[in-house]
Amino acid sequence: MTDIELMELAKKAGQNSYSPYSHFRVGAALLCKDGRVFCGCNVENISFGATNCAERTAVFAAIAEGCREFEKIAISGAREGKDYQRTLPCGVCRQVLSEFCGSSFEVITENDKGLCKTTLSQLLPFAFDSF
Ligand code: THU
Repeated sequence: MTDIELMELAKKAGQNSYSPYSHFRVGAALLCKDGRVFCGCNVENISFGATNCAERTAVFAAIAEGCREFEKIAISGAREGKDYQRTLPCGVCRQVLSEFCGSSFEVITENDKGLCKTTLSQLLPFAFDSF
């Protein structure tokens, strides 16, 4: 699965976004080490704190299907009726990804020049990992 193909799946998932409050549609596509892909979108709630981001929707879908080893994630976001804009995972999603993904896990986003690639360790260099 190429990064471009994974980003296409993220965009498709974003079309299912439930975002009547922010009007910001996010889609994520998570590639597992066994080749399966799990997609997610943001699901908002009138009690804003109950909102779930696209990335976590995808991770939780994978976990629920018994998949825990991940290779990369593509994320796309756009305000309703506008072009896609670079969308990086929020802090909570970074922490959730760090529970299951190694430091080389790739995060693929997109700006007006094309795909951008970064790693989880760049995005969350000092994750909370023990208590
Ligand atoms: N959102 C995501 O789905 N993923 C992110 O990484 C950032 C934010 C969603 C949450 C909310 O529904 C909307 O984008 C605006 O914050």
